[in-house]
Amino acid sequence: MKKLALCLCILFAACQSNKDHTKKTAQTDLSDRSDPHSYSIPTDAVVKHLDLELAVDFSSRILTGKATWEIQNLTATDSIIFDTRQMQIEKVILDAKKDAKFSLGKKDTFLGQALNVKIEPGTKQVTIWYKTTKESAALQWLNPEQTAGKKQPFLFTQSQAILARTWVPCQDSPAIRFNYTAKVTVPREMIALMSAENPQKKNSSGVYQFRQPNPIPSYLLALAVGDIEFKSIDSRTGVYAEPVTLKRAAWEFSDMGKMVSAAESLYGPYLWNRFDVLVLPPSFPFGGMENPMLTFATPTIIAGDRSLVSVISHELAHSWSGNLTTNATWNDFWLNEGFTTYFERRIVETVYGREEAMMQEAIGFKALQASIEELGPKSEDTKLKGNFAGRDPDEGVTDIPYEKGYAFLKVMELALGRTAFDAFVTEYFQSHKFKSITTEDFVLYVQKNLFVKDPKLSDKLKMSEWLYEAGLPDNLIKPSSEKFLAIDSLLNANRDRLPINSLKSQISLANEKLYLLNVLPDSLDKKDMAQLDQAFLFTHSHNAEIQCAWYMHAIKNNYQPAVAAIEKFLINVGRRKFLIPLYKEMVKTEEGKEWARRIYKKARPNYHAVAYSTIDELLK
Ligand code: BES
Ligand code: ZN
Repeated sequence: MKKLALCLCILFAACQSNKDHTKKTAQTDLSDRSDPHSYSIPTDAVVKHLDLELAVDFSSRILTGKATWEIQNLTATDSIIFDTRQMQIEKVILDAKKDAKFSLGKKDTFLGQALNVKIEPGTKQVTIWYKTTKESAALQWLNPEQTAGKKQPFLFTQSQAILARTWVPCQDSPAIRFNYTAKVTVPREMIALMSAENPQKKNSSGVYQFRQPNPIPSYLLALAVGDIEFKSIDSRTGVYAEPVTLKRAAWEFSDMGKMVSAAESLYGPYLWNRFDVLVLPPSFPFGGMENPMLTFATPTIIAGDRSLVSVISHELAHSWSGNLTTNATWNDFWLNEGFTTYFERRIVETVYGREEAMMQEAIGFKALQASIEELGPKSEDTKLKGNFAGRDPDEGVTDIPYEKGYAFLKVMELALGRTAFDAFVTEYFQSHKFKSITTEDFVLYVQKNLFVKDPKLSDKLKMSEWLYEAGLPDNLIKPSSEKFLAIDSLLNANRDRLPINSLKSQISLANEKLYLLNVLPDSLDKKDMAQLDQAFLFTHSHNAEIQCAWYMHAIKNNYQPAVAAIEKFLINVGRRKFLIPLYKEMVKTEEGKEWARRIYKKARPNYHAVAYSTIDELLK
């Protein structure tokens, strides 16, 4: 009976979706679409090239835009659908001459509104005139005081996962690629940079032209405007930053050229010409963002000792896993991030040695275990193949796609041997370059290229368990590092008291400190906290990862000497990865909640929408 009801339900849903599909009306339930996070129907009419014109106005905090899309009308359909959110559409023109009829669909919180433009079978070009709004979530407009130089305002975008539609009307699915050219007008004292070929100097006109020669998905559209200068590292790498940050940034990232060469020697040529990094103001909500040709990075990775540069290896690795071979939907996000985490650690191993890579792997594994515990080992959200239809895909940005994805690829590496696995990965990127694929496409590729040659491999890998089941399969390889084992044994031999002096003489590296902070007991008395702080200067560390891990202990144990530093950190830094755990820990007690609310009042104006939307929920 239950089964029959379910069948009827599915049949009804299928009829509904068919009916809707033929009507091509805007839907808010997209769960049956190949990409549940885009209204577009690329099998009917799809974009191929974007020519974007933007005027950047800092006083009104609005972008005025004209997006000319070259399209292919594949089925001679009478409409093309774009994704839009938090923007105002002014007019739409077909083939540079004819006014088009258009309508906007129902509003959805995350998906925004479908923009349905009436076209003709032969339509080649659709030009959309629009303005962004104060709400446009991809954009963060900063006052001069929120920048390092404190003199000029700053603007940057963050399009991943589905925010490109808040500043460019587009078919906002990672399965749809296009090339782009752009012309951006900014105030004369500033420079504009994009995920494209970039200028290295300001000009006197304030007008900048861009070209991205490779086809990219919309989530890699990016723009930054500010008082920014460039410093070259080598012939194909360099750093952009505000003048006061530039020198420190160039020193910290001086190995970028070596990283690109290491990456090429692993998995094939770098196909994006230049690899530059832009250091943003501290409100940037991520560690890094792999915008093609111009990775965006948080200044919190400038620790002064190059201890956090693996973030740069990570974003560089996305030039293959992600920017060349892309997840077709956000449910396949592990294909981007799992492969990138694996590739990142191989670059780190090549440039900084095996011990460094192993320490990072072990820290990643600790984070994975903690995440699985937090989500619950049976939680659907611990599966590599995600299901985020009807939800914000940002909910899928957990350690699962990164570290469980990594752990699965380590299982593959061990089963095949490194040489064969590297050949497989090189060939995988080569045969899927500029393509977007699903987890199922990946499974077919593995079956065709590996299982056919070695049928026993299938059992060894337990691939479907890794991809489609919750928790961790039993063929998991637990990473370990000699240096961390030494810390473990010190702690184990002194269970009744913390051996602070021995720890102090043994530990010198940032990774070791981070590991120690990971394995310390939750409950520490005031004396232990003070002694740890005295031994390792945690409260005033220059390493943001260490600061965050220490502040978690400080909150848990009500360690007063860190209070001012925590407040300063939360007000200055906008990186989600740090903010969310810290605020989550604070709201566990009534007193903490009040404290969090007090800080948040001052801090919220410094956060990007992707950070404050989550924290608003936490502090409600
Ligand atoms: N592409 C991601 C950031 C991202 C993911 C933005 C999903 C929006 C939605 C980037 O490559 C990334 O993974 N950044 C990490 C760095 C890291 C794991 C080294 C981050 O920001 O912490
Ligand atoms: Zn990434």
